[in-house]
Amino acid sequence: MLKLAVLISGRGSNLKAIIDSIENGTLNAEIKIVISNKTDARGLEHAIEAGIKTAVIEHKKFPTRESFEMEMDKLIAAKDVDLICLAGFMRIISPWFIGKWRGRIINIHPSLLPAFKGVNAQKQALEAGVKEAGCTVHFVTEEMDSGEIILQAKVPVLEGDTEETLSARILEQEHKIYPAAIARLSDYLIIR
Ligand code: GRF
Repeated sequence: MLKLAVLISGRGSNLKAIIDSIENGTLNAEIKIVISNKTDARGLEHAIEAGIKTAVIEHKKFPTRESFEMEMDKLIAAKDVDLICLAGFMRIISPWFIGKWRGRIINIHPSLLPAFKGVNAQKQALEAGVKEAGCTVHFVTEEMDSGEIILQAKVPVLEGDTEETLSARILEQEHKIYPAAIARLSDYLIIR
């Protein structure tokens, strides 16, 4: 069974979708640890409710990005994790950490990559006037939002959409494709 670490910074609705898919048997995986870099991340509650081990590692308390990541790495490695899932984790990850976990670290982004990388992807889509938006699960590489694509879902952009309405429509799809992408990877990742 695939052993996961999920990294969050906030709401944690994608984490919750992964937890639900495991609980309802559509995803054969186990979340070994949820790590947040913020003490007040609401997503931590989802993990606690599901009886999953949580850790808060506040990046502010570390002198460098790498020392913060070394702390995360220690916890993740101790749990024999196969795959790290970034789910609204709002830190840039260093080449050191990415190199260490290459091919085993994935992210979800609220756009049809390669369009609209970076922050406020839904707003970027609205401003560009596209007729279709969506979300992407992809491998994490040194270049932001640019790694190999695992799965995407499209949604229409409707007349009168605001950032909120479009984001909600995309989020609904995120909750479907994140667990599905993990399930797909579990077919060929070598389990530790
Ligand atoms: C999602 O829109 C995700 O695509 C982006 O950050 C948001 C996280 O939401 N990377 P949540 O914390 O999973 O609810």
